[in-house]
Amino acid sequence: MNCEFKLPDEILFGCGERHKLVSKLPAGNVLVVAGRHSKERVESELLPELKGREVRIVADVRPEPPLEDVERVLAAGREIHAANVIGWGGGSAIDTAKSAAALLPLDGSVADYFYGRGKIPGKGCFFAALPTTSGTGAEITPNAVLLDPETGIKQSLRHDTMFADTAIVDPELTYDCPPGVTAASGFDALTQAIESFLSKKATPSSEALALKAALSIHPALLPAVRSSSIPERIAMAEGSMLAAMAFTQSSLGAVHGIGHPLGSLLHVPHGVCCAVLLPELLRWNLPACREKMAFLARMLIRDTPEALIAALEELRRAAGLPADFRGYGLREEHFDFIVKNCRSGSMRSNPRDFSDPEVAAILRGVAG
Ligand SMILES: [Fe+2]
Repeated sequence: MNCEFKLPDEILFGCGERHKLVSKLPAGNVLVVAGRHSKERVESELLPELKGREVRIVADVRPEPPLEDVERVLAAGREIHAANVIGWGGGSAIDTAKSAAALLPLDGSVADYFYGRGKIPGKGCFFAALPTTSGTGAEITPNAVLLDPETGIKQSLRHDTMFADTAIVDPELTYDCPPGVTAASGFDALTQAIESFLSKKATPSSEALALKAALSIHPALLPAVRSSSIPERIAMAEGSMLAAMAFTQSSLGAVHGIGHPLGSLLHVPHGVCCAVLLPELLRWNLPACREKMAFLARMLIRDTPEALIAALEELRRAAGLPADFRGYGLREEHFDFIVKNCRSGSMRSNPRDFSDPEVAAILRGVAG
């Protein structure tokens, strides 16, 4: 099988690896996009090491980053002629930093590139990514998921040159991640591992990474939510990184295809979308990939695919996540928008194809 294997230029994994960040940065000013909870650490740990450079820290990017937040970050970077961009936080902070790093040398608005009116010609600024949640894998991927709140469109800004120059996955940064975020981002990571493993575009290398990712994440997720125990936090960080290395090669599946328009329309956190949709869509996919799901189920729980789906529903309940979208008000009137906007690359790599009425039937099943 022919395949390409693309990753960030450099990935550092391990406790304390974040202290190598400054040694990696080329000369020049620094724009930092920090998560709300990371600002303090960035100021106390990073800022003293950047003496002699002009530094701007932006720490109020909203979740599912809207275009205007990215525009604001871009303006802050242009003001100081930033040569380096650091994303230090959850997926939103990293995706915003990734977009700013790509667009800083260019003219035009973020919307121009989001809607394809402008083309990214090549490499932007030096970009470093440090995740503080174990979930999105944004530190590994060459795309940034952004939202235009005016149109409700949530899609990726993507270019091969948007891979991080250095991705630093330091599990210590996840130790104080709150239980609700740990649960939702953990389900995102688990979904990414499973969808990558089952993807039509899976390759031998992506399958190996996805399987190891699922094996790390599945047993660690609940202990990490409940007790924040350190070995489980390390396993989650490792699993999330491996899942992202896998799906960067293989793409994802219908949980992400349907989850993106649904989440943007009803403001459902991405990991919650994954948790609700994953069991339902594994049930749908089972006839198309029984053999692979049987293997995955044997590896994860030494049981059948049906038992794995039930185990994931139980894990979701125990992690305190909802089983449907009742609390978010999903109704029949929303289905048209979701059906129309779900036909992304993720949907095309799903093991089983859908007609529009079949997508609507899935939505009916999770509306609650
Ligand atoms: Fe995801």
